[in-house]
Amino acid sequence: MSKKILILPGDGIGHEIVAETVKVLQCLRSEFALNVETEQALVGGAAYDVHATPLPDETLDLAKHADAVLLGAVGGYQWESLDIAVRPEKGLLGLRAGLDLFANLRPAILYPQLADASTLKPEVVSGLDIMIVRELTGGIYFGQPRGVRELENGEREGFNTLVYKESEVDRIVRVAMDIAMKRDKRLCSVDKANVLECTELWREVANRVGESWPDVELSHMYVDNAAMQLVREPKQFDVMVTTNMFGDILSDCAAMLTGSIGMLPSASLDEQGKGMYEPIHGSAPDIAGKNQANPLATILSLAMMLRYTLEEAEMAQRIEDAVNHVLDQGFRTQDICSSGKAVSTSEMGDAVCAAMLESS
Ligand code: IPM
Ligand code: MG
Repeated sequence: MSKKILILPGDGIGHEIVAETVKVLQCLRSEFALNVETEQALVGGAAYDVHATPLPDETLDLAKHADAVLLGAVGGYQWESLDIAVRPEKGLLGLRAGLDLFANLRPAILYPQLADASTLKPEVVSGLDIMIVRELTGGIYFGQPRGVRELENGEREGFNTLVYKESEVDRIVRVAMDIAMKRDKRLCSVDKANVLECTELWREVANRVGESWPDVELSHMYVDNAAMQLVREPKQFDVMVTTNMFGDILSDCAAMLTGSIGMLPSASLDEQGKGMYEPIHGSAPDIAGKNQANPLATILSLAMMLRYTLEEAEMAQRIEDAVNHVLDQGFRTQDICSSGKAVSTSEMGDAVCAAMLESS
C-alpha cells in the first residue's frame, strides 16, 4: 500500500519552497518508482483567512491519518496583530502537540562548498556536523498557567510557566542517547540548572537515563555557555539535547554556522517515529512571492522524512547526493551566494531534479 504524505505549505515563502520540494517528490515518484500519495491542506495564516483558525480540525485529522507531514512555514505581517490564540504560529504548535511530536531533530551540517557563506572563519566551521535534539511539546511553550493579568495597582504582568515532568525529560534524553550511539557517542545536555529548578531536575533525570548508555559520554552545559561555545568552538559538540525554548534559540544559532538558515531541515517525531518535517526557518514574508527563497532546507526535510519515517533510505540518499551535486555545480540562492548571480527558488528545485536524473 502506498504511504500518504500530507503537504502543508503554510504561509509566505512556504508556498514556493514546498512547491520545489513537491517537484522533487514527483520526480522520485515518476522516475524512481517511489510509492507515495500526497494530499494538501491549510495551516497557519492561510487557514485562518478561510476558517478563522490556524489549525482547522480537518487539517489535524488529515495529519493524524497521514504517514508523514511536510510543512513549509507559517506566519506573516498581516496576522501579527491577531489574538495570540489564533496566530499562525499556534497552528504549528497545535500540530506538534496534537501529533505528540516531542522529539525535534535539527542537524546542523556544513556543506564544504558553503564554508565561505558562514560568518565564522572556515577553520572554525569546516567539517561541522552537530545534531540538536530539541524537546518540542513541553516546557515554557506549553506550560500552564500563562497569560497577562492585571495587578491590584492596575499594572499588567505577563507570565509563562517552565514545567517538565520527569517522564518528558526521560523520553527526549533517550531519543538523544539513541542518536548519539549512531554517531560519535557524545551527548551534551543543555540546561540552566544553576538558576532554574525545573532544569535542575532535567539534569538529574538526564544523568539517570545516562546510566543505561554507558558507552555515551554525557556532559552538561548551561545554556548561556552553550550559546557561546557554539560560536567559539562548535566542533566540540556531537549531539546536544535541550528544552523547547533553549533548543529554539540554539538551533537558529547553529544554523548560522552552516552559512544560512535556508539550509537546515528538521524532523519532529512521535514515540513511533512518525513525524512532521519542516525547514527550521520561518515564512520570510519580506521575500515571499519573489522566487528568491532557498528551497534546500525543505528539500532536505523531505530526505529526512524518507529516511526516518518512510524507510526509503535510498531515495533520501538520492536527494542528499543531488543537493551536494548542485552545490558543487555552483548553484546558489541569494542567502548562500557570496558573489555572482544567484539562482531563483524554482531554478534551484529544477537543478536538484536534474541532478537526480543525471545520477540515475
Ligand atoms: C521554530 C520556529 C517556531 C518555534 C515558531 C514559528 C513557533 O521558530 O520551529 O523554530 O518557536 O518553535
Ligand atoms: Mg525557531
